[in-house]
Amino acid sequence: MQTVVFALPGNENLAGKLASRINAEMGEVTIRQFPDKETYIRIYSDVKGKRVILVCTLNNPDKKLLPLYFLSQTAKALGADCTCLVAPYLAYMRQDKQFKPGEGITSTYFARFISNFADTLFTLDPHLHRLHSISEIYTVPCMVLHAAGLISAWIRDNIERPVLIGPDSESEQWVEAVAKNAGAPFIVLEKVRRGDREVEVTVPQVEKYQEHSPVLVDDIISTARTMIETIGHLKRAGMKPPICIGVHGIFAGNAFEELKAAGAGAIVTTNTICHPTNEIEIADLIASAL
Ligand code: R5P
Repeated sequence: MQTVVFALPGNENLAGKLASRINAEMGEVTIRQFPDKETYIRIYSDVKGKRVILVCTLNNPDKKLLPLYFLSQTAKALGADCTCLVAPYLAYMRQDKQFKPGEGITSTYFARFISNFADTLFTLDPHLHRLHSISEIYTVPCMVLHAAGLISAWIRDNIERPVLIGPDSESEQWVEAVAKNAGAPFIVLEKVRRGDREVEVTVPQVEKYQEHSPVLVDDIISTARTMIETIGHLKRAGMKPPICIGVHGIFAGNAFEELKAAGAGAIVTTNTICHPTNEIEIADLIASAL
């Protein structure tokens, strides 16, 4: 089946790479706003009987969702055989339970909405905390890809004597896998609660790694608080400034500047979200899955 790839605004670069890697046509479309801020959509490409791929990473999701929905509906109305959403970063994965009475479980509602208009979903390392799989909330077939292999390769190629650091026990599995493929040791910070308001964080076996380059790895850098706090612990333990690697660099507000100021040796992300820190390319990984 022939494939046409459409880029939602801001996703042109990745969409172009995907189209050329899978030998697909790049879709021509106008997405703009009327003066009253409603969205106008017009597809020029022939999509009849074809697979339509919509590339739209979903940071800042609220303003992206309606144009995405309209584009998918327009493609279907023009006879597209199916619409496949490539969302390298998948939003609304964190509010996955009711923490306080009256709260909405937005991860479920968001999943339901996407599942209503996309026939398949491709994404990278969605934040699974309490869920084991995104199929618990998405009802369409989902292909979940992992950046661990790409991150390991980047570390192997760029860092001498790395030691990987997990900020907390939650990150252990993930950090262990990256470390193993990078052929590097890893440590996970340990939290010991001394009282209601007193938590002590220790860096285990710190003496062993004083001459190593610490590499902090996490799935999301949002406010960067997790990384900034971890850098503080590493500094106090006498370690070198760490290289901070995130799969998804959201960098909310001034997070990027604050992370630099906190003493990050370097900040590196994959290009699931466009940012000057993008050094790890995901196009081949997605293209091979498509
Ligand atoms: C938490 O469970 C995640 O793995 C990340 O550690 C977290 O989302 C990072 O958020 P922030 O940058 O706001 O600390």
